[in-house]
Amino acid sequence: MDSWIGDVRSRISITSKKIYLDNAGAGPLTKDVIDSIESFLRIWNDEGEPWDEVLEHIVESRRLFGSLIGGKLNEIAAVPGVSFGLNALLSSLKLDKGTNAVASSLNFPTGFYTLHALRSRGVLSEVRIAEHSDGYVSLDTYERLIDDKTSIVLVDYVSWITGYRERIREIASIAHEHGAIVIVDSFHATGVVPIDVKADDIDALVCGMYKWLMGPHGAGFVYVREELIDDLEPMLSGWMAIEDSVIKRMLRGERLFERPFNIYEFKPARDATMLEWGTWPAIAFEGALAALKFAIRFDMPNRYGSHTSKIVRRLMDLLESKGYKLVTPRSSYAAIVSFRHERPYELAFHLKSRGIIVSPRPGIIRVSPHFYNTFEEIEKFVDSVVEFDNKR
Ligand SMILES: Cc1ncc(COP(=O)(O)O)c(C=O)c1O
Repeated sequence: MDSWIGDVRSRISITSKKIYLDNAGAGPLTKDVIDSIESFLRIWNDEGEPWDEVLEHIVESRRLFGSLIGGKLNEIAAVPGVSFGLNALLSSLKLDKGTNAVASSLNFPTGFYTLHALRSRGVLSEVRIAEHSDGYVSLDTYERLIDDKTSIVLVDYVSWITGYRERIREIASIAHEHGAIVIVDSFHATGVVPIDVKADDIDALVCGMYKWLMGPHGAGFVYVREELIDDLEPMLSGWMAIEDSVIKRMLRGERLFERPFNIYEFKPARDATMLEWGTWPAIAFEGALAALKFAIRFDMPNRYGSHTSKIVRRLMDLLESKGYKLVTPRSSYAAIVSFRHERPYELAFHLKSRGIIVSPRPGIIRVSPHFYNTFEEIEKFVDSVVEFDNKR
């Protein structure tokens, strides 16, 4: 085993007890995350809430998340999760009357509900769903659905269900030809594969921490392209979302509460923090900061080419060689591999009894290894699947 992987695994205690292949459900905790949360709670308990440190850590977590996707500090907002971030963003867009949104049927459901909510309030005229076949949505389908009345194209970088890795740059190009913006949910991609929002021409991106980035629930980020920030007009807001917020005061070197807040005017922040609204889940962001440092220290996304993609390929090859039908398209994927199974729940229970963790989904088993998994773990997993099916 390479030395880096031994080091990584020694910091993820579940790897010594289980074969953990469910990063698309929730990532395992690292020692780094647990230690940082414990230390934060200890300080709060012993000395009182470390408020200045909270503010500094929020800024630092935004900066580090930005560095993972190629975004600048002013383009990143710290939010409690993907659904929250999407709603903050969508409610700030100035949309012309009668426009439609296009979303991939492979997206996680939450994005549809945010769009349907806008449609039922009459903000959007229609939500068009780009249907998939054979595990992916063709570019032709996007071409057909996106028109000059489309204002938003919402697409997950990697599908939570089939594992398809979308052709974001091409989709962005189609959307931009028609004047629409592209919003990407990168929950199953950030930390797994290298991402560059500028190269992909992404207008906005949302991501949470508790899956592949191996942080806690309650922490996530929104990236908004600088030029788009100027066009936002928030319908909802709060004391952390204004130009004179305490965090802005801290960054200007001012004392946080020396001046009163001006309650007679509304000047939203001129950066992505206009989407932050109120106090962040500080405990979650302590863990998130430790998780981001871990991701960067171990160069997680850049291990994809040299390691993760190889174990994913081995997984696909082994499953197919044993006669299993992959749902994940071979043409484009990241680290989610789904295959058909008639009894996914029974199989998942069997695997769990063998200390192997995967996700059952309707008619499929979803396996999601990450950069810390090994070839031996993949082989043991496939052997246990075959063992279950041979017993029937
Ligand atoms: C792609 C994707 N986006 C969003 C979510 C939900 O995120 P949140 O609960 O932070 O709103 C999930 C959850 O599994 C997901 O897979």
